[in-house]
Amino acid sequence: MDEHTLDAVAELVHSARRVAVFTGAGVSAESGIETFRQPQTGLWAQFDPMELAHVDALRRDPETVTRWYHWRFSKCADATPNPGHEAITRLQRVKREAGGDVQVITQNIDGLHHQAGAEDVIELHGSILRWRCQKTGTMRSIGDVDFSSFPPMSEAGGLLRPDIVLFGEMLPNDALEAAERAVMSCDVFLTVGTSAVVYPAAGYIELAISRGVPTVEINPDVTPMSGAVTHTLRGASGVVMPALLKQCGLLD
Ligand code: APR
Repeated sequence: MDEHTLDAVAELVHSARRVAVFTGAGVSAESGIETFRQPQTGLWAQFDPMELAHVDALRRDPETVTRWYHWRFSKCADATPNPGHEAITRLQRVKREAGGDVQVITQNIDGLHHQAGAEDVIELHGSILRWRCQKTGTMRSIGDVDFSSFPPMSEAGGLLRPDIVLFGEMLPNDALEAAERAVMSCDVFLTVGTSAVVYPAAGYIELAISRGVPTVEINPDVTPMSGAVTHTLRGASGVVMPALLKQCGLLD
């Protein structure tokens, strides 16, 4: 991570009144949750997303898909927020105390931003911690789902599925509207731990760039947006985010 760039980004974040933080699976990597597109280890290197994470797959084989999401939940059930999540929460707290704001827009379904204490998290792809009855639309916490048989069913006789956006499904309107408001009103836009290849989510990076506000990519690897953002901080979010707050004088 380049010290000069860290200094420049710290200056921007420190003076910004409203910050938008857009996160992807990379922000949870240091919590032990695998990302999707890492060669060899990524989820999509081990499983076919079209067979398991697509709405047609849920229709065709609800038992396999709900079993797989129960397994994915079991992989993140013990995960805890890492210093990257905690730094984002701290930034939000400090900015709100000073009359500003930090809006967290996440593609992640693991609930770790919430667990780290972040408020008003915009979950573009929903949450694996909530399951929904396909018949009545009622929601329940994953802890209230009976997984003694698959697919899990509700008392109303409807299939219970995770309250997440599968490939082939639309993102929730309220989340889309909230995310757009956050990007349109921010003074600085941070994109943290995303490969920036899945739309419409990745479009928020382009929207921020088109607004001309400073944009910062925090990622150990290059992404398709690396050449378009204002600054890149090459490193793990669990290292870069605390270093950024420390440089801003917000962490000792
Ligand atoms: N800190 C920051 N970034 C990291 C770290 C880390 N410790 N480890 C890996 N990364 C980066 C990777 O280099 C990659 O650029 O995080 C990014 C993760 O990219 P993906 O695995 O593609 O995850 P994401 O961008 O969130 O995927 C978007 O695609 O499959 C769908 O719905 C799924 O929400 C997901 C969406």
